[in-house]
Amino acid sequence: MAPPRKLHIKSYGCQMNVYDAQRMVDVLTPQGFVETASVDDADLVILNTCHIREKASEKVYSELGRLRLARDEAAQSGRRMQIAVAGCVAQAEGEEIVRRAPVVDVVVGPQSYHHLPELLARADAQGRALETEFPVEDKFGFLPQPRPETIRARGISAFVTVQEGCDKFCAFCVVPYTRGAEVSRPVAAIIADVERLADNGVREITLIGQNVNAYHGDGPDGRAWTLGRLLQRLAAVPGIVRLRYSTSHPNDVDDDLIAAHRDLPALMPFVHLPVQSGSDRILAAMNRKHSAADYRRVIDRFRAVQPQIAFSSDFIVGFPGETDVDFAATLALVTQIGYAGAYSFKYSPRPGTPAAEMPEMVPAAVMDERLERLQQLIDAQQSAFNKAAIGRTVDVLFERAGRKPGQLVGRTAYLQPAHVFPGPGMSPDALVGQVLPVRIDSLERYSLLGELAATPPQHARPLAATGA
Ligand code: 5AD
Ligand code: SF4
Repeated sequence: MAPPRKLHIKSYGCQMNVYDAQRMVDVLTPQGFVETASVDDADLVILNTCHIREKASEKVYSELGRLRLARDEAAQSGRRMQIAVAGCVAQAEGEEIVRRAPVVDVVVGPQSYHHLPELLARADAQGRALETEFPVEDKFGFLPQPRPETIRARGISAFVTVQEGCDKFCAFCVVPYTRGAEVSRPVAAIIADVERLADNGVREITLIGQNVNAYHGDGPDGRAWTLGRLLQRLAAVPGIVRLRYSTSHPNDVDDDLIAAHRDLPALMPFVHLPVQSGSDRILAAMNRKHSAADYRRVIDRFRAVQPQIAFSSDFIVGFPGETDVDFAATLALVTQIGYAGAYSFKYSPRPGTPAAEMPEMVPAAVMDERLERLQQLIDAQQSAFNKAAIGRTVDVLFERAGRKPGQLVGRTAYLQPAHVFPGPGMSPDALVGQVLPVRIDSLERYSLLGELAATPPQHARPLAATGA
């Protein structure tokens, strides 16, 4: 038998890329590949790229420069290293990558990962292979399932893609071009994936999609199911104790999703709901198709059924034409909502998007200053949110043994890392995969430190953040 070939995948960007990287491993494992943590001994290196902002996509080219050196070194010791570029930069800049970085053997878009073995063989025969089509077949039908031991090695929390692509066409965003039109996977296929994961020790599932709450997959009853309905069904899968979903668009929050938050204890009260800006003028220019007031109403609908709920969001500062007044509206919205955390970015023009053609670019120094102010506000809210947990007893799903001997690490409903020492007589390993009440004593940076508690968590007081 040939010795295994070593595979190193480096993923950039969103959770979908993390998931896709795992699926590429699943495709290549039956081909005799095993994963390696180091680039230097790899026979195949895959860069799973992100195109969302300019910085993200430029990283690929500098990494390819480094890989050229690693490949030359491997060649000197008589070993051949193949290099593949996958993900959204591959999709958007296929030919350009080959032109700028001749070191690349394979370019493969996100819809074609199931063709990786053929593409590698074609690169062997012809020197190079490129595939960035949106094939008509459903790649999920062709992707092999991970092996039980692989699922176990990946831990108790897993992502499952339920939809891909986006039809929203926000003026700044490349996703509708790189990931294509919105496509939802059938309900039965998702249930089968989740059951298989649960059978192999997974306890928490995060359903992912670029616009996950636009989900409308075919149900077993022949009708399109909403995300809320899907969540309700998945909550019944034995072994699954926590459900999450990401990323949502405010306009696709429907009654089923709100009902799911009301009815399903397994559905975590933590929702990532990007708003991008608090200014109606900028929201219109962004083609978001909602106002700041619409967004607040959506938040209120969640809060009305689930007082424990907390939110995170994405913001863009310095969208073309953004004035001080527009930016002040963003700060006001953040203050009003009170987030548990949020990501904020400087606007980055992406070729081919409508916003890239817009005049009135905001000067770099103004963007820097706005980003700094927004991040300070968000950080203050996040700290206040984390501090509010001190002195309380909260549910923690334990994920793994910690770095210190006897330590156990898990996450709260709000994805805050929580650390405990279960004490003598309790093996940390036996507690992994369980949800246990933890009394929080203190905070160390972003992690909560506490002790296992005998009493169940208190849900009387909401944990929601207050505006800073
Ligand atoms: N410039 C800056 N930020 C962007 N995002 C998407 N496109 C751009 C862009 N062109 C941000 C949005 C989105 C997140 C994933 O990335 O906030 O929600
Ligand atoms: Fe991009 Fe999200 Fe807008 Fe879709 S909804 S275009 S993924 S920002």
